Amino acid sequence: MKTKNKCLKRLFLFIFSAMFLLNSCSKKEDVFAKRKISFNADWSFHLNDSITDKDTIGTSTKWRNLDVPHDWSIEGKFDEKSPAGYGGGSLNGGLAWYKKIFKIDSLDINKTISITFDGVYKNSEVWINGHHLGKRPNGYIGFQYELTPYLNYGEKNNEIIVKVDNSKQPNSRWYSGSGIFRNVWIETTDKLHVGQWGTYITTPKVTAEKASISIETTIKNQYKESKKATVTTTIFKEDKKVTSVTQDITINANENQILNQAAEVENPILWSDEKPELYTAVTEISLDDKVVDQYKTTFGIRDFKFDLNKGFILNGKQVKIKGVCMHHDLGPLGSAINRRAIERQLEILKEMGVNGIRTSHNPPAPELLDLCDKMGFIVMDEAFDMWKQNKTKYDYANDWDKWHERDLVDQLRRDRNHPSIFIWSIGNEIPEQWNESGVEIAKELAAIVRLNDKTRPLTAAMNPPVNMNIDEVTLQFEKKNVQFNAIAKSGILDLIGYNYAHQTYEYHQKNFPNTPFIATETTSGLETRGYYDAVSDTIKKWPVRWDLKFTEGNPGNTVSAYDQVQAPWGSTHEATWKVIKKHDFLSGMYIWTGFDYIGEPTPYEWPSVSSYFGIVDLAGFPKDVYYMYQSEWTNKTVLHVFPHWNWKVGQTVDVWAYYNNADEVELFVNRKSVGKRSKKGDDLHVMWRIPFEAGTLKAISSKNGKVVLEKEITTAGNPSQLKLTADRSTIKADKNDLSFITVDILDDKGTIAPNANNEINFSLKGNGKIVGVCSGDPVSHESYKGTKHTALAGKCLVIVQSGDKSERLELTAKANGLKQATIVITTE
Ligand code: GAL
Repeated sequence: MKTKNKCLKRLFLFIFSAMFLLNSCSKKEDVFAKRKISFNADWSFHLNDSITDKDTIGTSTKWRNLDVPHDWSIEGKFDEKSPAGYGGGSLNGGLAWYKKIFKIDSLDINKTISITFDGVYKNSEVWINGHHLGKRPNGYIGFQYELTPYLNYGEKNNEIIVKVDNSKQPNSRWYSGSGIFRNVWIETTDKLHVGQWGTYITTPKVTAEKASISIETTIKNQYKESKKATVTTTIFKEDKKVTSVTQDITINANENQILNQAAEVENPILWSDEKPELYTAVTEISLDDKVVDQYKTTFGIRDFKFDLNKGFILNGKQVKIKGVCMHHDLGPLGSAINRRAIERQLEILKEMGVNGIRTSHNPPAPELLDLCDKMGFIVMDEAFDMWKQNKTKYDYANDWDKWHERDLVDQLRRDRNHPSIFIWSIGNEIPEQWNESGVEIAKELAAIVRLNDKTRPLTAAMNPPVNMNIDEVTLQFEKKNVQFNAIAKSGILDLIGYNYAHQTYEYHQKNFPNTPFIATETTSGLETRGYYDAVSDTIKKWPVRWDLKFTEGNPGNTVSAYDQVQAPWGSTHEATWKVIKKHDFLSGMYIWTGFDYIGEPTPYEWPSVSSYFGIVDLAGFPKDVYYMYQSEWTNKTVLHVFPHWNWKVGQTVDVWAYYNNADEVELFVNRKSVGKRSKKGDDLHVMWRIPFEAGTLKAISSKNGKVVLEKEITTAGNPSQLKLTADRSTIKADKNDLSFITVDILDDKGTIAPNANNEINFSLKGNGKIVGVCSGDPVSHESYKGTKHTALAGKCLVIVQSGDKSERLELTAKANGLKQATIVITTE
């Protein structure tokens, strides 16, 4: 009996301690799970009516429920009279309010609780339970407010209110979007914790055998007494521990302490654009042997320099930066960030051979940098488009004096652990660049950058660093009488950043013998996807001229998709790449732009509302020149032939082909050869000028007489059916993930109808949403947020977002007179 009782007692004790352990483990889990949690769901939103609403909210305010990230401008109508102007995409700004009611667990009463906004455009003001937390004019920078002193715990509600004022227009040269357009987070920590952006990890010495790692951690003690704590930083590669360092500290009450630790990684696996290998550092702070805070930092180990003669050297290897500039909007989704939408943009660019991104002209969404780390892009992280002097009436220059230092410091601290960042840019085409006032500001900014990060070079995107002096007759750069841009000459910059002026690049080493080169912005080619004016007698005028408006005989405000048209300050795509390619000392280029963006429809104004500069259109469909880069920048075997093959009989058509890995291309019209062509000298394409004959155009590339690739384009009949293709047909049921579905308009034989511009209607069955429609046509005024859209050149895009249930979504596309199509997307 006694033994039985003893056994029972033991069993009871075992169960009790197991439960206790389990409980304390799950508590511990909870603490860390709350370190940073999404605060995006269930906001209320009110957009002021500029006529009837005062600049305040009250009991009669009508609210709408939504999740952020949210951009209210993209929901509006394109408006010729929009104060944002065509530069801003002819979409209105305005003043709006966001509100969220939430509860805080009473278990967290002794914690520090903060709210982080990754970006609110613009002039945001935040209140918690009626207490004003602060104002942030800059729409692109992340910011954090501590909520702890003002919170209610347990069953009592808390109310957070955000006022966003984007009413003063114009304030941007491109489409900004409006609202809480980036993610929001709630961070719950112990009173002793790693501060905001509190780690700074660098790799001072990197060899194949060993990398030294320097870890600077800012630790915040918000206890009323000093604390003795242990700080351990453990470095992981994937889930495997590599090394760790531990240090005891004593930190005074209400103080921040900076702790420096050093570690070594044997046989480091280096980060590169081709193999973006990442490490994670986990910082743990312990009080009395109990871990009270855990903070993760992703970093990379790599060694690089910009060399005067050899350009960009990464891990001992010369790498040409083949970059593109990107604005932050995501086409039909507007500026509301979505990780998958950014990832898709980067995937499309990677396929083309792009290995660099310039975050023109502002701090990007943190998710873009995370993806660049993971996918391998060489990032130029840019801070400003203007300093003290305005470019538009209500822009950031008005906030410059009060905010520039804080904004720049925050950007540097937020971003400096990203291995993908290789260059800081302190500004784009700053008006003060030509005079001493600009030099003074550049000096101040350079000091701020170097104080916060000495590991990357500093540049400014100057237009241009030396005066152009172009000989009007030969279009050659005339190198006599060189006049220098004041900032370029000042010696402040580590890299001379060229915007355009490719004619001057070959003289760089003479003009700037001590400072390496980067082309911060190039090209500005102009193209409408799928639009060609192939008639030889007009080829010299319309639409090759960059500025011929629709009123002058160009009704669609289209620009030819042959790479022949550019903004006058730029070049064709081929011209700049030919120069960059030729010389090792030209470390690389960032082309304006990878994707089309909303606003700045240069060369046009209203009715055009989005840009023509992209190598990829607003919907994500590549223009033809995409394949020129692919043939030059990747190892893929390429043969791309254009235009389409639907012309008037007898009409003269220029047929172009981009190809690689072959010696020549032979073209056949209805099986008859019209000649072989091969690239000569520095040619980047071949061309045939031939009369049109309905039927089949076939190109065959060959090497040493052996066929490499064949491409066929057939004359299409009338549009007859729709075809739907999803980039991913299974997506996550997380109310966030996206499927990008391409609609092709085909004839009855399945050939794409290249001139089809039918209006397509979409409907969706199931727990999901249509969140964007777009054809890439810069002149379309249909809403990107609707459920119908007119195709451009036989194509259209529809974006479907998952709900929170696993199920089957069924998307149907219909158009008058065409056979409809349906596609199933599974969410799980
Ligand atoms: C540049 C400018 C860009 C964009 C581009 C268009 O001068 O830096 O923001 O406006 O021109 O070509």
